[in-house]
Amino acid sequence: MAVGAKARAAFLNDVLAGLSASPRALPCKYFYDARGSALFEAICDCPEYYVTRADLALHEAHIGAISDHVGSGAHVIEFGSGAGVKTRKLLAALHQPRAYTPIEISRAALNNSARQLARDFPDIEIRPLQADYTQDIDAETLQLDPPSRRRVVYFPGSTIGNFDHDEAAAFLGRMGRIARSNGAILIGVDLMKPVPVLLAAYDDSQGITAAFNRNLLERMRNELDAVIEPDVFEHEARFNSTEGRIEMHLVARAATAIEVGGQRFDFAPGESIHTENSYKYSVKAFRQLAGRAGLASKHVWKDPDGLFSMHWLEAS
Ligand code: AVJ
Repeated sequence: MAVGAKARAAFLNDVLAGLSASPRALPCKYFYDARGSALFEAICDCPEYYVTRADLALHEAHIGAISDHVGSGAHVIEFGSGAGVKTRKLLAALHQPRAYTPIEISRAALNNSARQLARDFPDIEIRPLQADYTQDIDAETLQLDPPSRRRVVYFPGSTIGNFDHDEAAAFLGRMGRIARSNGAILIGVDLMKPVPVLLAAYDDSQGITAAFNRNLLERMRNELDAVIEPDVFEHEARFNSTEGRIEMHLVARAATAIEVGGQRFDFAPGESIHTENSYKYSVKAFRQLAGRAGLASKHVWKDPDGLFSMHWLEAS
C-alpha cells in the first residue's frame, strides 16, 4: 500500500471506532493536517489563548537558569520538530551543547527545521530522527552517547496535557528511560486556573478554535468521503472538574447522521463527538504524576504571570 493509502486506512479505522464508541470520541492527533496546523498557529496568536505566550515568557525569564541546569556538553532530545522560537532560545543559551535530536513523525516538518537549525547553529550536531515519539524508541535509534554524557529530553508546549493520567505516566516513564540516571526531562505543563479563563482560551471570540475543531469534519469529508450535514456540528469547550481538564466537543445541534466507510452513525440533538482533552495541573498534581513514573520534580519554573510551568524531572 502507498503511504497515503495506509494513512487513509488508519484514519478511517480510527473514525469508525471513535464514532461507534460511547461516548463518541476521535483522537486529537487528526487535528494537525496542513490546514489544522495553520489554524493552531493562528490560535497561538489569539488574545485568549495564553498558553504559547506564557511558555515563551517562561523561556525568556528563566533560560539562563534552565541552561545552567542542563550543564555543558549535553545531548538535547526534543519530542517534536523543534521548529519554534523556544527551541532556538534554548539552543542559543546552552553551554557547549554536544548534539540536538528533534524527533518528529512528519518527514517534511523534520527536514525543514533540521536544515534551518543546522544553518543557524553550525556548532551543534543536529541529528533529526523521524519517528512517532509516543511509541518506544530504542537507544540505538536515538544514537545516544555514553551515559556519562548528560541527556535532556525536552518537551515544551504542554502537549502532555492531551494524555490522560495513565497515558501521561507511561509516557513520562518512557522519557525517563531515555534520560536514565544522569539525565533529565524538561517538560512544559499548563497550570490549573480559573475556569472562565480556560474556557475563553479554548473558545476564542474570532472562532479560530471552532474552525480548528471543525477541521476534523472537513478532513472526514475530503479524505474519507464522509457525508456530514453542513453546519449541524458546533464547537464546544467544556471544563470537566472531576478530571481537571478542558474538553473540546463537536455537538450536533439537531438530529443528524454521519455516513462514512459504508456505515451510518445517528446523532440525537445535543449528542457530541469528544475531540480533545487538555489536562491542567497544579505544581503539586504534576509532581504526583511524575512520581508515578519514578521521576522526581527537582525544579519548577513559571512565567512571570504564573500561568504556565516547566518541570525539571530526574529519576528518583
Ligand atoms: C498543542 C496540545 C498544547 O491543548 O492547549 C489548542 C492544542 N487545542 N487549542 C492545547 C489546542 C485547542 C494545545 N496543545
